[in-house]
Formats: sequence, structure tokens, C-alpha cells
Amino acid sequence: MKGVILSGGHGTRLRPLTHTGPKQLIPIANKPVIEYAIEDLRDAGITDIGIILGTNMPNKIKDALGDGTKFGVNITYIMQGEPKGLAHAAATAKDFVDGDSFVMYLGDNILKSGIEEFVEGFDESEFSSRLLLQEVEDPRQFGVAELNDEGKIIHLVEKPKHPKNNLALVGIYLFKNNIFDAINKIEPSWRNELEITDAIQRLIDDGFDVDSFVVEGWWKDTGKPEDVLDANQLILETIEKDISSGATIEENVKIKGRVIIGENTVVKSGSVIKGPAIIGNNCEIKGYVGPYTSIGNNTKIIESEIDSSIIIGESVIQSDKRITDSLLGQNSKIISDKVTYPKGRSFVIGENSIVKL
Ligand code: DAU
Repeated sequence: MKGVILSGGHGTRLRPLTHTGPKQLIPIANKPVIEYAIEDLRDAGITDIGIILGTNMPNKIKDALGDGTKFGVNITYIMQGEPKGLAHAAATAKDFVDGDSFVMYLGDNILKSGIEEFVEGFDESEFSSRLLLQEVEDPRQFGVAELNDEGKIIHLVEKPKHPKNNLALVGIYLFKNNIFDAINKIEPSWRNELEITDAIQRLIDDGFDVDSFVVEGWWKDTGKPEDVLDANQLILETIEKDISSGATIEENVKIKGRVIIGENTVVKSGSVIKGPAIIGNNCEIKGYVGPYTSIGNNTKIIESEIDSSIIIGESVIQSDKRITDSLLGQNSKIISDKVTYPKGRSFVIGENSIVKL
């Protein structure tokens, strides 16, 4: 089997972070979200991976992932260009897939359990597709599946206003080669996209069988800031304590719970770090780092408190108010007006920024 990871799209719901890079590179526990998809494929024995690129700085993805050697996989890059829908993206991978069956993995999805069980037996089965499903509270923002008593999919609707049940489509799909014929037969939807749900419905209408697999354990689509913070919390729940031998922990520092600290990071005297939390390399920490916080490389926390947040990296926080539930892009600065003149709040913030004072 092959793997196809979708990494295009504009990521509008994650602006301003996506003004400077694709959303699939936003780090969850200091690791780009797309790397979790690569690892899931690899752990399921799938090492030939095609990555579909869009127009939003695709070279950043190539630079971050390279040819895949560092993950133990072979990566082929495939250009989709403008995001004309998930089925359009899948169709651009036809030559790469070259007659094999394949896993299509949306590059902003993250799943606790991995995909080994889901993939098992599909290649040899009579099914043309197998869909991963999960019960969700509000299915209106997802594709929704209707099943018969045997668990076969009989009907699919994309983001229904009045869902018939709460079984959402997780963004990980298994296909055989006849999905490409089905994609050829569909028309763009009301939002002018070729929808993968329409292509799968076409398979069903043409008499092919589509299987389902309901996944236990958490799943997150990291399309919005609050989902990114939720995913960060869920991944941090799974980390083990690991303080690098190259880190300097000064005297009178309290480190409680599962905390990862990287090379050349200095934790200054008097600081308190409460896990689960991860701090990258070359950081300087003086203050309080609370649970569910991920701090990227080359960041300074100066006399400040932070919890339940992601700092992507290269940032400075010097604030007399605790920072909480925040998502800070690369090279951000939050400086208290107590240490600068003139007094007063001063901002350089991008489109769609949120500041709560
Ligand atoms: O996350 C699960 C949901 O993903 C499913 O329940 C829905 O049925 C499915 O349509 C999809 O909905 P989203 O609205 O979340 O899709 P989004 O537009 O965010 O695209 C998902 C990923 O695919 C994202 O990483 C960007 C990438 N993409 C998207 C489009 C439209 C592409 O690479 N090319 C595209 O043309």
C-alpha cells in the first residue's frame, strides 16, 4: 500500500499563523502536525508516501521533511496547486499511487491510536474503500456517515445542517484504485470543490462496497486555534520525563511531573515547571511554565508565567500577567509596559490576531 498525505489548502481558520507557512507545519508538542501522520503511516508498514502540496509556501514543507529518510520513509512531492477539493487532491496522486491501494491522510488530522488496526486486511478485502469514523458531539462541521446493520456505509453527507447521526468521518481514508474512476464522474459541490464524500458516494451508487471502522481514543482535526491547543494537551498527556544532559537546571528550581527539556536550555533559579510540558533547545526560562505548555527553540521566558499554550519558537515573553490558552507564532514578543517607556499597550499584530487584555 501507499500513503498520500494532503498538505495543501489555505488554512484560513488558522490565520495569521498560516500567513507565514502551511498549517500542517504548526507544532503540536514541538513537532509539526504532519509528522504524526508520517509516523502513523510508517508504523503501519507504509513507507512510500506522496505529499500533496498547495500554493501556501510548499517549499517550507519540503525543507522540513526532505526525502523522508529521517523518518524511515520515502517521500515523493506532488503539486496540487489551488485547493479544489479533497477529491481533486486525491486525483493528483493517481500516477504516484500507480494501481496500488492507498491510505489518504489529511495532514492536519491527529489520532491517538495510530492506523495499524484500521489498515489491517483492507488490501485483500473485497471493499473498495474503508472509512474511519468517530462519534462526535457536533457532526455538522464534518462529513457524516450512515451505516447498515453490517457496518457497510450506505450514505455520506458533507457537513450536513441536520445530521442523521453523530458518526463523523475522520480525515483518514482507505481506497482501491477505482476511487479515481469515481472522482472522474463527480461534479464540483456548491462550494466549488470536488468533495471526497461525493466520490465515495459515487462508489456506493455504482454498487461497490465501502466498509467502516469506528475509532476509540481521541482524534483531532487541527483546523482551528482551539483544536491546535486541544491536540497539544492530548499529546502532552502521553510524554515521558526527559531532561537533556545538555540542559542547565540552576539551584532552587522545582520541576514537577512529566517535563521534557532540550539541549542548551537554561532554567534559572527560582523557576517552577509543572508538567506535562515541553521546552525546546536553547531556551532561557525564568518564571513559571505550567501544564500543557509547549515552548519551541530559542525562546526566552523572563520573569513570567505561562500555561496551556504553544510558543512556536524564537520568542520573548516578559509579562507581569500570566499568559494562558495562547498560540504564539514564530518570533513573537510579549513585553510588559512595566519594563518599557512610554507606558501603554503597543502592538504589531497580523490579520485575524486575537488579544485579550
Ligand atoms: O477532518 C475531517 C474532515 O476533513 C472530514 O470529516 C470531512 O468530511 C472532510 O471534508 C474534511 O473537512 P475539512 O473542512 O476539515 O477539510 P479541509 O478543507 O480543512 O482540508 C483538510 C486537509 O486537506 C487540510 O490539511 C488541507 C488539505 N487540502 C484541502 C483541500 C480542500 C488539500 O491538500 N487540498 C485541497 O484541495
